[in-house]
Amino acid sequence: MKVSFALAVGSLAAGLVEGANAGNGVVQWDIQKKPPPPEAKRLGKRASTYEEAVSNEEMRGGYFASCTLGTPPQDLTLQLDTGSSDIWVPESTAQVCRKSGGCTFGITPSDSDTFRITGPDLFDISYLDGSSAKGDYFTDVFDIGGATVQNMTMGLGNQTDIGYGLVGVGYALNEAIVGDTGSASSAYPNLPVTMVNEGLINTVAYSIWLNDLDASSGSILFGGIDTKKYHGDLARIDVYPTQRFYTSFKVALTSLEASSPSGSDALTSTSFPIPTVLDTGTTLSYLPTDIAMQVWKEVGAIYSRDFQMAILPCSLAASKGILTFGFAGPSGPKINVSMDELVLDLTTDGPPVFTSGKYKNQDACKFGIQNFTQAPYLLGDTFLRSAYVVYDLINNQIGIAPTDFNSTESNIVPFPSASAEIPSATPVPNQAQATIPPAVTSPAYSASPGFTDSAAGSRNKNAASGMPEAFGVPQLCILGLSTMMIMVGSGVFLVLF
Ligand SMILES: *[C@@H]1O[C@H](CO)[C@@H](O)[C@H](O)[C@H]1NC(C)=O
Ligand SMILES: *[C@@H]1O[C@H](CO)[C@@H](O)[C@H](O)[C@H]1NC(C)=O
Ligand SMILES: *[C@@H]1O[C@H](CO)[C@@H](O)[C@H](O)[C@H]1NC(C)=O
Ligand SMILES: *[C@@H]1O[C@H](CO)[C@@H](O)[C@H](O)[C@H]1NC(C)=O
Ligand SMILES: *[C@@H]1O[C@H](CO)[C@@H](O)[C@H](O)[C@H]1NC(C)=O
Repeated sequence: MKVSFALAVGSLAAGLVEGANAGNGVVQWDIQKKPPPPEAKRLGKRASTYEEAVSNEEMRGGYFASCTLGTPPQDLTLQLDTGSSDIWVPESTAQVCRKSGGCTFGITPSDSDTFRITGPDLFDISYLDGSSAKGDYFTDVFDIGGATVQNMTMGLGNQTDIGYGLVGVGYALNEAIVGDTGSASSAYPNLPVTMVNEGLINTVAYSIWLNDLDASSGSILFGGIDTKKYHGDLARIDVYPTQRFYTSFKVALTSLEASSPSGSDALTSTSFPIPTVLDTGTTLSYLPTDIAMQVWKEVGAIYSRDFQMAILPCSLAASKGILTFGFAGPSGPKINVSMDELVLDLTTDGPPVFTSGKYKNQDACKFGIQNFTQAPYLLGDTFLRSAYVVYDLINNQIGIAPTDFNSTESNIVPFPSASAEIPSATPVPNQAQATIPPAVTSPAYSASPGFTDSAAGSRNKNAASGMPEAFGVPQLCILGLSTMMIMVGSGVFLVLF
């Protein structure tokens, strides 16, 4: 999400520290609240997985990882993004870094002995929210989660309106250069591919555990899965190509159910099966308007023209209702998302209050499921926190299971070899059925009373304190907050891998 660029990221890097345990062919990274000893970043030579803590910056949105770049190493904090595929960093001389409150992390190329420009002026990325970054492609040493990548190609943002860099871990065919040239042959090995090329992991795959909305961090594990971070079995489902090419983690959302103590309803859409992209770089989730409106009615959210988004009383975070997302057809995996994962603050300086209507005087919050006009729809962090997701970019499969929130245990299983399938995962049978659209009917809304009953009126802290009018607030939180890249090119003609 790219709304308030000026917020500093310093606080999330401070005090967040990793420690390593190497042995038996794996390296596990834990989070400790003390500074790292220098040797904490040393690796066992035979390591085949790398885990990096990602911090949840709730208000700005997104997950950030600490890394270093260059020789000697310069510290960086980058946003983790499965919706884009380049690593890029702001140059410390870029305008956005020079103004006050600008970049907390920018790099100074002349301070690195190993910095090499490889593509002058060729880096040019635009995100769905209208933000962008431009400059050179370069290579340098890059260190993430204790893995040192010797020759990493990255973008250097010298013209940008984004005050922090990103680490895009999507398909190489979604790199900015491929979109800009319209040619797959211009794709370069991005982070997960380079980690394989340099022998750090066995196959182009990683797992992401975002953890609870209220937890400060989760992790990304390159090259393996952690069987203690989810419940039940991982189900293996297909990623769908776009015009024959794999460019995003697009899966088939085939059902959505609302359940509460008062009943449960199957929600419907003319867009089923709904092509949805699993995108960690997007804070909220975006579904077709017909089904989004059913969800809002079930949970008690309303669409605000002032905020241009669905909002609801903050007290509904305590609701007993649950939304169940089903993928890949009737035999596919189902992920429950509870209401406490779907109610987010609207502003940093205290919630606005509803000034009229049935929620008058209650605090207003942002709802985690919004509507969007066209495919691809997005399942962002408000969905992804409730799932453990494995991304296999070689077999074009996703492993998914309900997350184990706040799990403190770990059992890391590396992918055994190049192009191995996701370990401990069961393939979903009859996935072809996922493409058959179900009948469209209107839900009975039997779950609706149970979503709003128990919780109403429990969190009204600003009601009496004369907060400014709820909807006189200038527009703050607008649309399309995806870091998914806009593909401007057309004739992509080669498949990598
Ligand atoms: C970006 O780089 C170009 C070429 O090196 C340079 O001429 C220009 O001044 C830089 N722009 C900014 C905003 O730093
Ligand atoms: C570094 O990576 C670039 C881009 O992938 C490649 O062209 C170059 O040959 C590599 N250099 C070394 C020393 O491996
Ligand atoms: C996870 O931990 C956070 C922070 O300690 C806590 O607020 C949250 O309730 C926990 N979640 C669960 C599901 O236990
Ligand atoms: C998901 O929620 C439904 C409805 O409350 C419940 O029946 C089901 O057992 C839940 N599934 C899991 C895995 O918790
Ligand atoms: C979302 O739904 C609202 C209410 O129906 C509508 O006014 C708005 O245009 C929709 N937004 C998008 C992006 O489709």
